[in-house]
Amino acid sequence: MTASSKKLYIKTFGCQMNVYDSGRMNDALAADGFEPTDAPENADLIILNTCHIREKAAEKVYSEIGRLKVLREKRRADGKETMIGVAGCVAQAEGEEIVRRAPAVDLVIGPQSYHRLPALLRKAQSGAVVETEFPQEDKFDHLPAATPKRLRQAGPTAFLTIQEGCDKFCTFCVVPYTRGAEVSRPVAALIAEAGDLAAAGVREVTLLGQNVNAYHGADTDGATVGLAGLIERLAAITGLDRIRYTTSHPRDMDDALIAAHRDIPALMPYLHLPVQSGSDRILKAMNRRHTRDSYLRLIEKIRAARPDIALSGDFIVGFPGETDADFADTLRIVEEAGYAQAFSFKYSPRPGTPAATMDEQVPEDVKKERLAALQAAINDGQQAFNTAMVGRDVDILIEKPGRKPGQMVGRSPYLQSVIVDLPTESRGDIVTVTITNAGPNSLTGMVGGRDRDEPAAQPLEAAF
Ligand code: SAH
Ligand code: SF4
Ligand code: F3S
Repeated sequence: MTASSKKLYIKTFGCQMNVYDSGRMNDALAADGFEPTDAPENADLIILNTCHIREKAAEKVYSEIGRLKVLREKRRADGKETMIGVAGCVAQAEGEEIVRRAPAVDLVIGPQSYHRLPALLRKAQSGAVVETEFPQEDKFDHLPAATPKRLRQAGPTAFLTIQEGCDKFCTFCVVPYTRGAEVSRPVAALIAEAGDLAAAGVREVTLLGQNVNAYHGADTDGATVGLAGLIERLAAITGLDRIRYTTSHPRDMDDALIAAHRDIPALMPYLHLPVQSGSDRILKAMNRRHTRDSYLRLIEKIRAARPDIALSGDFIVGFPGETDADFADTLRIVEEAGYAQAFSFKYSPRPGTPAATMDEQVPEDVKKERLAALQAAINDGQQAFNTAMVGRDVDILIEKPGRKPGQMVGRSPYLQSVIVDLPTESRGDIVTVTITNAGPNSLTGMVGGRDRDEPAAQPLEAAF
């Protein structure tokens, strides 16, 4: 096998940061002669980039490894070897346990050690390696920059991790244990990486962090820059037309960031601001450090700065001790906050987190019922928000081909998917589209559809 013929297949689970990390792992291994492939049966190295946030995440990984073992045997019969790696948050949480239960695994690597991937793989040639210590050095100082080729292939939108880890310790959440303590990347490194993205044709960048609005990166002069300051600097990069960030904690939504939503046109009017529950009693037990009232007041302030902002959120139903009255408070906050989009989950006990051993765990059938009721309320809000777009002209960043020939799919400033008839060459264009139809999950639009003399539709905020 020559170095240049090695093929790599990464299967990514979980959040956007895992998507970003898989890209960086690709880059780290490209320097070692690995080329990405979409076909696991052709891969000399398969990496599962895993997520531990909910459900039986670890169990899913073990059954996935079982399937890979079969594939490895098949390839071995053809005289080809296959290495199997487990990365991501299950790797960090389970560590040694993975190679004990699944001896087929050659390498277990936690998210903070990806810069060591090539060296650890070489070590794994002579026996399984587990690397889940949090290293002293910062991986970002050692990971190679992406090649322009990979960035160009990735299309007009990209993720950029600016902050990693979490110090908040919500009692239900595994992230502070799997990603470690909060770390912000320095401003100069981020400007350089965003510049590379823009040079490769990226027009929209989504800044990532488990607590992205707690960002406090060092500037070259040693001063500390917050998220608002960073966004201002990134907005000045030629070609970067759209900036988004996710995920935010209500406690870290400072005045400068709220003002940035008013003052920086490139900052898109969309904000993912999870509240998790509408009940103060449950918020306290979750250690969220905000109340339903402080959350609603915060939203008011944000809407005063940027009236058309589309708000999105996360909810957990069936947290230990949640009563019908607590859940009713959650349904009420959905109404009061007015979400353009929201994600809701049944509480899932995570090993090692305080809530997992709390009394009064909620029975599965109750969780299920509450989830269905919550999702119905969220869908109503989502449909109302989308319906309010019909007749409006919006700028769509065209991202990829649609399901039918001749169709393309793009995103509105409010992160809605918009389907529009356009040629494939329009990928990467920002096109003004008139919205003609709205479903709960996507919109349909036409280029130049509306007669310019017709009055524009009602303003977006009037939908609530
Ligand atoms: N960093 C993000 C959260 C990432 S996890 C933040 O602070 O908002 C994404 C979402 O998963 C959370 O907002 C929460 O709603 C959900 N979640 C996290 N842990 C969970 C658990 N144990 N059970 C169910 N949902 C959970
Ligand atoms: Fe998890 Fe809470 Fe940190 Fe978000 S803020 S990552 S929910 S501990
Ligand atoms: Fe999952 Fe880890 Fe992301 S647990 S949600 S992959 S931070």
